[in-house]
Amino acid sequence: MNATNKAWEVLKSGGNALDAVEQGVRVEEADETNETVGKGGRPDRDGNVTLDACIMDKDGNCGSVVCMENIVHPISVARKVMEETPHIILAGKGAEKFAYEQGFKKEDLLTESTKKQYEEWLKKSEYETTINIENHDTIGMLAIDEKGDMAGACTTSGMAYKVAGRVGDSPIIGAGLFIDNEVGGATATGVGEEVIRTVGSFLIVELMRQGKSPQEACEEGVKRIMKKNEGRKDFQIGFLAINKNGETGGYCVHPGFTYREYSENGHENRKVTSFYE
Ligand code: GLY
Repeated sequence: MNATNKAWEVLKSGGNALDAVEQGVRVEEADETNETVGKGGRPDRDGNVTLDACIMDKDGNCGSVVCMENIVHPISVARKVMEETPHIILAGKGAEKFAYEQGFKKEDLLTESTKKQYEEWLKKSEYETTINIENHDTIGMLAIDEKGDMAGACTTSGMAYKVAGRVGDSPIIGAGLFIDNEVGGATATGVGEEVIRTVGSFLIVELMRQGKSPQEACEEGVKRIMKKNEGRKDFQIGFLAINKNGETGGYCVHPGFTYREYSENGHENRKVTSFYE
């Protein structure tokens, strides 16, 4: 809610969709109590917090950082990659070095709370990829501005206690996020490996191009993933989509995924339907 409040404020004051999504998700990156995004995100199994983020604008320009440490706002570094370099993705130490060159400050991303949890986790060092609202989430945000232009942003600390160097779907254009200003946008949360295997967000935008509503497209996206994982119930994925007319939709594997929708008509949390009830 805090993130979408901020994004709406930017749009209402005449800001464009790109500014809105960047400013919106920054709220969660800075929130230390959100243990799946930005500062306060849970670390990998070596105890290092590594962040992934990407951003995409109306013209198909995009920027991304993967596995970056010590910077609170990976989404803003991703935007700098998009605007200040001829590249799209910067990784690890290179991304961090670039961030310092752009004026970002070095900061310890581990908090007292996530440090304690990590020390507790180390006792058994059990690694499960199961993702639910308690142990993982990502923030993906899609916006349309006054001019009808779209943008999207996606940012995460990834799976808690992941193998060092692991990168999920969130910073991968087409997987964790995709925008096509003629059609619509989509973003994903959940087990990134499964989203990447289906190039989920791109798939959903293409399904909308073929005439599906955002809801139908998200349902088809999850069904494609489940077809490759017949009978598997041990993971969660959620998709969220918006089309050019501002219609939205969402669908997930297990119940429990909601999204916040803002428009001139007000704002509300929308509970999405799921593959398994
Ligand atoms: N969807 C976020 C991740 O898998 O890291």
